[in-house]
Amino acid sequence: MQILRVDSSPQVPSVSRQLSGELVAELTRHEPGCQVVHRDLGKEPLAHLSHQSVVSIRTPETSTPEQKAVRVLSDSLIDELEAADLLVIGSPMYNFGITSQLKVWFDHVLRAGRTFHYAPEGPIGLLSGKRAVLVMTRGGVHSNGPARLRDHQEPHLRTLLAFVGIGNVSVILAEGLGMGAESQQRGLAAARSAIGRWVADESQQRVAGSAAPSRA
Ligand SMILES: Cc1cc2nc3c(=O)[nH]c(=O)nc-3n(C[C@H](O)[C@H](O)[C@H](O)COP(=O)(O)O)c2cc1C
Repeated sequence: MQILRVDSSPQVPSVSRQLSGELVAELTRHEPGCQVVHRDLGKEPLAHLSHQSVVSIRTPETSTPEQKAVRVLSDSLIDELEAADLLVIGSPMYNFGITSQLKVWFDHVLRAGRTFHYAPEGPIGLLSGKRAVLVMTRGGVHSNGPARLRDHQEPHLRTLLAFVGIGNVSVILAEGLGMGAESQQRGLAAARSAIGRWVADESQQRVAGSAAPSRA
């Protein structure tokens, strides 16, 4: 299995980076054959979009060296995503949504003709068959109660992924991390047990899949 791990916290250390790392480490412990590519958008941020880079991403006929460099970067980010069976995204909630670092990555990889295309019936995602795990961290609690309406992180991530054809999405949530030590411990413990369950389920499915009789 090929894993693409994308982290997007500008902070170091970071809870989402720590938890996405724990998930990938646990998974590779169970599945030693996994290959992992790590794209850390917090430590090595992509430049925000400019007129030049929008032209480069949207039109293949790039002319200036700057445009060509952006096109090459966008191509290589898409290649990484295309090669992956599983996408693990470490995403802190910033101002009710995703960080700008992660948004820019999506701006580079959502490209007509590569990851989706426009059909007469509407846009069609071209990356079906892949799965994603969202490792999301939050200072407050947005999974229930009135603050749920302010959660533009999970719906946005699901929309972006579904747009490129990735509808099989699991969630690991660590929230309430900024609401005192007890709440933080609870949030982290809940996330870690969700990681344990997810990896155990994943391994069981693999064993069941490899034990299933093959059809001629
Ligand atoms: C600029 C900024 C904006 C934030 N906005 C929110 C928010 O809207 N809702 C929330 O619950 N937490 C918010 N937080 C708290 C972070 O989501 C929380 O600290 C999280 O653990 C950060 O993950 P990280 O350690 O991986 O960066 C914000 C933090 C920062 C620095």
